[in-house]
Amino acid sequence: MPATIVVGTQWGDEGKGKFTDLLAKEMSMVVRYQGGHNAGHTLVVDGETFKLQLVPSGVLYDHITPVIGNGVVVDPFVLLKEMAMLRDRGIDVSGLLLSGNAHLILPYHQELDALHERHLGKNKLGTTKRGIGPAYADKSMRLGIRVQDLLDEDIFREKLHGALSHTNKVLTKVFNRLPVDPDELADRVLGECLEGIKPHIADTVNAIHDALDAGQHVLFEGAQATFLDLDHGTYPFVTSSNPTAGGACPGAGIGPRDVGRILGIAKAYITRVGAGPFPTELFDDYGDKMVDIGREFGTNTGRRRRPGWFDAVMMRHAVKINSLSDLAITKLDVMDTFDTVKICVAYEIDGKRVEKLPYHQSDVHRAKPIYEEMPGWKTDLSKATEPGHLPENATAYLRLLEDQVGVPVTLVSTGPGRDQYIHWA
Ligand code: GDP
Ligand code: IMO
Ligand code: MG
Repeated sequence: MPATIVVGTQWGDEGKGKFTDLLAKEMSMVVRYQGGHNAGHTLVVDGETFKLQLVPSGVLYDHITPVIGNGVVVDPFVLLKEMAMLRDRGIDVSGLLLSGNAHLILPYHQELDALHERHLGKNKLGTTKRGIGPAYADKSMRLGIRVQDLLDEDIFREKLHGALSHTNKVLTKVFNRLPVDPDELADRVLGECLEGIKPHIADTVNAIHDALDAGQHVLFEGAQATFLDLDHGTYPFVTSSNPTAGGACPGAGIGPRDVGRILGIAKAYITRVGAGPFPTELFDDYGDKMVDIGREFGTNTGRRRRPGWFDAVMMRHAVKINSLSDLAITKLDVMDTFDTVKICVAYEIDGKRVEKLPYHQSDVHRAKPIYEEMPGWKTDLSKATEPGHLPENATAYLRLLEDQVGVPVTLVSTGPGRDQYIHWA
């Protein structure tokens, strides 16, 4: 059976965790393919909240094999902590598969992330300081250490010596910091992590293909989002991986023909954490309401998310580069009390109407949104579970959004709970 990909279409935190959990009911396997513990995916089931960073969001179901693919960067300490948290809450994580080819995030990556940010001063990116950029940089420089290296102490120590002979020069000579002792670090990682991690290390590529060949349904869970993509996002205000749907191929070891459905997740408005251009950003009461009612604070870092109206120009671009088949719209309920709601349908740049996302980022910085405005629905949607439960104005808003974006909206989320959604089409 062809695979499904769940992908964030904006700047993250769209509700990928919620829909991964929801779709996982019908799946056998859920695979993360990029990112690391910069992700924070929230699931709310029977009033209980789970916040996941590395473990795939299908883990709550007994029938799901959760897989961390080769494209993920894994802090072994964080992974063990998250698994322990889940175990303590009665979730079976014994079946988790961790790719031997995934790269490790080690404490010096986090130190470098913080140092780079400090070095950038007012131009900082606002990273999550989880060591994501430095770990992917080491991977590209062929200095990375893979999960499989943990399996042979000599190899692990040798690789750590190799990586640190470079990194220690950067730490001491560029940033005036103390060097990291490779053997001390190796002792710590092997002593504290090996026993817990070892049983999970696996050949995930073959595990995924065995599942696909057996006709099982596999779900790929994107982290971050389209406009945080290293290639397609608002560079340099991006993450260091490819969250776009295509990233599932190198990140998990599948080919494009293995994929059937690509479900984009979008908020009914839009938020961004960290720096970078944001044409529809709001600094008014509507923005404050989005943050207050939508509880728009980072799942992971607690930072206030920047709010704005839904941007159909960006979304049309996201449809193209992800090859989206359909969309799930989340957090419609957050706008329940709004007198008016707006969708950005085009930009005005130097007096001209522009309908496609400009490739030149200076244009994105200068773009003024052109809005279509509609009356709000002024109705509590939190209990709406069927299309017929939606008031006329909410339906009209979704229709306008769908017309502007050009792919069908199939799911609408009306609250954080697993049951708070509508099959819209
Ligand atoms: P992810 O990173 O894409 O998985 O999203 P996050 O979990 O970081 O952020 C989404 C937040 O919105 C979480 O707190 C969810 O519980 C919450 N959420 C998801 N869908 C809805 C919805 O339809 N309505 C409301 N009010 N909250 C939602
Ligand atoms: P989920 O999966 C929102 C943002 C950071 C920063 C930029 C680079 O929960 O949607 P990084 O630490 O990755 O080098 O930071 O990317 N960022 C996210 N924003 N949701 C996320 O994940 C994010 N992961 C990274 O805020 O702007
Ligand atoms: Mg999140």
